[in-house]
Amino acid sequence: MGPIGIFDSGYGGLTILQDIRQRLPQYDYMYLGDNARAPYGPRSFDVVYEYTLEAVQELFGRGCELIILACNTASAKALRNIQQNDLPTIDPEKRVLGVIRPSAEIIGQYSETNTIGVLATQGTVNSQSYILEIAKFSPHCTVYQHACPMWVPLIENNNHETKAGREFIKEDVEKLMKMNDRIDTIVLGCTHYPVLKEYIESIVPKGVNVISQGAIVADSLADYLLRHPWMDSKCSKNGTIQFLTTESVEEFNQNANNYIDANVKATHIHLGR
Ligand code: DGL
Repeated sequence: MGPIGIFDSGYGGLTILQDIRQRLPQYDYMYLGDNARAPYGPRSFDVVYEYTLEAVQELFGRGCELIILACNTASAKALRNIQQNDLPTIDPEKRVLGVIRPSAEIIGQYSETNTIGVLATQGTVNSQSYILEIAKFSPHCTVYQHACPMWVPLIENNNHETKAGREFIKEDVEKLMKMNDRIDTIVLGCTHYPVLKEYIESIVPKGVNVISQGAIVADSLADYLLRHPWMDSKCSKNGTIQFLTTESVEEFNQNANNYIDANVKATHIHLGR
């Protein structure tokens, strides 16, 4: 038995962990933020895959049986390879799940105009994952995407609430909204972006839904554990959370509270060569 692993390039996945823990407080969690190598968004397919696989192996090595890639970029660029090519040789009894599929599954339900906007990293946008996945579940919806390469660095460095930071964010949101004035639902397709939700809601026209993924992923995980009792029985349940970071522990402990309501005392680890 082991904790459920939650992985992100940095702090963003904490927004997912916050909702997962509220929904499923009885489980143990092990969060890993690869802060030293964030952002992943501008990195190539191969590099995101290599870094994500290293993180997954680290979490498996620390006892996790089930891992959530709480990072859209890693879900878009590494998940399928890991599931199809790596898991069978690492351990076919372990599982790695992502955040794009659960979000794509239900997003169509929010839109009355069947016109959806996606804000995400360059890597996620280039992968076309949201377009392809939403088309499977809501083929009647048209999806527009806009990449926001500045947002993760702004958030990781805590500059998203500065005047300049807000200007950048506003410009990007306006670019998405200009693609089609029928957009009535915006997916925050990066786990860092929920910290901007209120601000984004304040600048989009009234009635536009701004959807963050935390609650959606938490519901989907609860459902997964219910449907897979063999996996559920391998997830320990003492209500604990451990935090691992590849960057400075002091910085992580201090910043983590912007994303999660928890007493964070992280451990430093090294990934890769
Ligand atoms: N939180 C990651 C995501 O959901 C951010 C990726 C990055 O590091 O650029 O895509």
